[in-house]
Amino acid sequence: MSRPRIVVTGGIPTAGLDLLREHGDVWAWDGDGPIPTDVRDEQLSRADAAVTLLTDRVDDAFLDAAPNVQVVANVAVGYNNIDVDACRKRGVTVTNTPDVLTDATADIAMALVLMVTRRLGEGERLIRSGEAWKWGMFMMLGSGIQGKRLGLIGMGAIGQATAERARAFGMTIAYHNRSRVAPDVEQRLGAELLSLDELLATSDVVSLHCPYTPDTHHLIDAAALERMRTSAYLVNTARGPVVDEAALVEALRSGGIAGAGLDVFEHEPEVHPGLLDLDNAVLVPHLGSATVETRDAMAVLAARNVAAVLAGDDPVTPVT
Ligand code: GLV
Repeated sequence: MSRPRIVVTGGIPTAGLDLLREHGDVWAWDGDGPIPTDVRDEQLSRADAAVTLLTDRVDDAFLDAAPNVQVVANVAVGYNNIDVDACRKRGVTVTNTPDVLTDATADIAMALVLMVTRRLGEGERLIRSGEAWKWGMFMMLGSGIQGKRLGLIGMGAIGQATAERARAFGMTIAYHNRSRVAPDVEQRLGAELLSLDELLATSDVVSLHCPYTPDTHHLIDAAALERMRTSAYLVNTARGPVVDEAALVEALRSGGIAGAGLDVFEHEPEVHPGLLDLDNAVLVPHLGSATVETRDAMAVLAARNVAAVLAGDDPVTPVT
């Protein structure tokens, strides 16, 4: 029997490639920039499995090119880049990489909370500008977070891990989620379930941890920003289009909210030009899971999913 063919649409860590090679013949795009569609389609036409990145769009066109693909293993926890229904209709299994990136992403969320409330990006830019400065009692005062309320929108694993970190910094926790989390989790985190409106109106920092779906598109729009306190901060490590970026620029400019820490952008990799001029915006380039250890673990998990499906077993972390 011939070995299965596995197509990887972009660079992934060697640990994942090595494991994939144990289970099939692997072809991986290693050119500059995104894989050209004609190259991708030619490779997919002979593939039994595809390993994809969050920058790939897995839609009918992708699937049409891949008649024998049994599994699409996305190397990301988010899978808004994948038309899961289209995959299901064709009997294609979809998998993602939850859990292994929880800590790394929660670390970035907490880092953004600290950066934006303590004006660290602004301070860094000052030093690098070469402008003269000296210590001053009232220089670059930020906002302390101890005793302040962190409002989490989305209370899955990453939301909970962010809550744990924030608790260690003395914050109190409120959350809004599709469903209530288990009572013991609520108790451990001292977390209070609030309506979205109440959470927005009473939180000192609002941090987004929900998936991007049609329901969460522009969840944070002008009206939501209007509900937030003028002293409040917004942190987004989820997906860019959960926030109406133009409305956010307006709120940051006008003092509608105090600041924002963003790891993701509405039209990634483009960033709203208005954000670039704002000192109260901290901007980092989608680094949520970007540690060596985490990316290795994500690639290995994707490879384990491919191996399981090709062997006729249940995937480890299916998207259901
Ligand atoms: C990163 O954004 C991911 O979804 O893994």
